[in-house]
Amino acid sequence: MTKQAAGHGLLFMVLFILPIGSLSYSGHHSHADHHRHKSSFRRVLIGHDSDKYAVIFDAGSTGSRVHVFRFDQNQDLLPIGNELELYVSTKPGLSSYAADPQAAASSLRPLLEKAEAVVPIELQPDTPARLGATAGLRLVQGDAAEKILDVVRNLFKNESNLKYKHDWVSILDGVQEGTYMWATINYLLNTLGKNYAETVATIDLGGASVQMAYAISDENAAKAPQAATNETYLLQKNLKGTNYNLYVHSYLKYGSKAARAEIFKASRNSTNPCILDGYDGTYTYGGVVYKVSAPRTGTNMKRCQILTRKALKINAPCKYDSCTFNGIWNGGGGDGEKNLYLSSSFYWTALDSGILKQNATAGRILVNAYKDTAKRACATKFSNVISEFPNVQEDSRPYLCMDLVYIYTLLVDGFDLNASQKVAVVKDVKYKNSHVEASWPLGCAIDVMSSLTTKTLIENI
Ligand SMILES: *[C@@H]1O[C@H](CO)[C@@H](O)[C@H](O)[C@H]1NC(C)=O
Ligand SMILES: *[C@@H]1O[C@H](CO)[C@@H](O)[C@H](O)[C@H]1NC(C)=O
Ligand SMILES: *[C@@H]1O[C@H](CO)[C@@H](O)[C@H](O)[C@H]1NC(C)=O
Ligand SMILES: *[C@@H]1O[C@H](CO)[C@@H](O)[C@H](O)[C@H]1NC(C)=O
Ligand SMILES: *[C@@H]1O[C@H](CO)[C@@H](O)[C@H](O)[C@H]1NC(C)=O
Repeated sequence: MTKQAAGHGLLFMVLFILPIGSLSYSGHHSHADHHRHKSSFRRVLIGHDSDKYAVIFDAGSTGSRVHVFRFDQNQDLLPIGNELELYVSTKPGLSSYAADPQAAASSLRPLLEKAEAVVPIELQPDTPARLGATAGLRLVQGDAAEKILDVVRNLFKNESNLKYKHDWVSILDGVQEGTYMWATINYLLNTLGKNYAETVATIDLGGASVQMAYAISDENAAKAPQAATNETYLLQKNLKGTNYNLYVHSYLKYGSKAARAEIFKASRNSTNPCILDGYDGTYTYGGVVYKVSAPRTGTNMKRCQILTRKALKINAPCKYDSCTFNGIWNGGGGDGEKNLYLSSSFYWTALDSGILKQNATAGRILVNAYKDTAKRACATKFSNVISEFPNVQEDSRPYLCMDLVYIYTLLVDGFDLNASQKVAVVKDVKYKNSHVEASWPLGCAIDVMSSLTTKTLIENI
């Protein structure tokens, strides 16, 4: 990356020396020569002028990463070196520095330096630096998280030329994460900027929460419950030059790890029919310990489904036209919800349980595939799970039946999907000749840049 920076430095030396040289010594140059220098000077300058960079820090629970994206004037991604982005990561995550906020900021300094090294110096003041913290910092007790964010703000403000805003260093909430995931996937599919009916819906199953996002018609947007309740369902977003009504909801407690706890609560911390026969242990989530073992009658998929529906509160009263689960408005459906992209734990569970081929970074599957695999998993004794499902992570083995039944029930009973429907399950999305990770930072970069462009337009009026 230092090489890259040196490359830019060199380019600019050439850039600024050439025209002066050609002016001072114009007599020694042929007309054609002079013209060539001038036009190449302009081309390079215009090229750099219209390039835009965004520096996005993803502060996760296990580590911090920085992504640098470079866009052309059409907001298409341009390569940085040989890759479509600069990506650098470090361990551990910010949350492990709760006792020493200065050390948290120091852990980001090398990432910041590497990021700045690929952004041309004259573009740095216009290049946003954004840090979004996810699960890890959300769980840090007291004001320690805010202290960490403050030292990071000082780092960005005092030690960097990148564009800084107080609000750009923050803990992301589920709605932001869901929005950015929607923007990332639609961007990579080249549906962002098109009519809402051509966009795809995204459901992202994290550890703590699950997020659904899709674009809805003006008609449905007008039906959105007003802010009388706490629930915000609707965001107006201008992305890639198009206005969208985005329906976004984040369901806390219904991520893959949190949902296990909800299902244990539904079985009142007694034996649980979703647990593989022959396992006896405990599960700890949010500091609470749950007993983990199957009843004497064994694992039972039907009973597991009934318990899971109870945990999802499928039958909670619905104040609106139509609800998903737990009394949450479903957004009204429509064309923006027809094509579905599922990510994070939907992908990992499909991969580990063999629904997706080994090493596949994406696939199209029937929603029913989760049910078919659940049938097999729920009939497997714990002692056989390694041989039957060799790719399941060790700490997930006792929960294989539970996790698959949960995903199936969430999709079909919760989100009301047709079990015979095909959905895309993705870690990566193909973009041009690369595969780009389906995660929030790219969508965040597009949102930050769109907000800057919109603001510039307004200021120019
Ligand atoms: C950075 O700036 C903030 C205020 O803008 C100041 O309080 C802090 O001491 C500065 N840190 C360093 C290391 O200069
Ligand atoms: C509204 O939000 C506040 C703070 O987030 C919360 O304490 C309160 O319980 C919520 N009220 C309802 C009706 O959900
Ligand atoms: C569940 O049961 C276990 C073992 O009986 C106990 O240690 C644990 O505290 C219980 N958890 C809850 C949430 O009641
Ligand atoms: C998956 O990747 C691993 C490691 O790169 C490799 O050893 C294995 O052969 C691959 N499996 C398949 C089915 O491609
Ligand atoms: C579910 O999807 C299948 C396949 O696309 C279709 O044939 C069937 O009619 C759908 N069922 C419902 C109830 O929409």
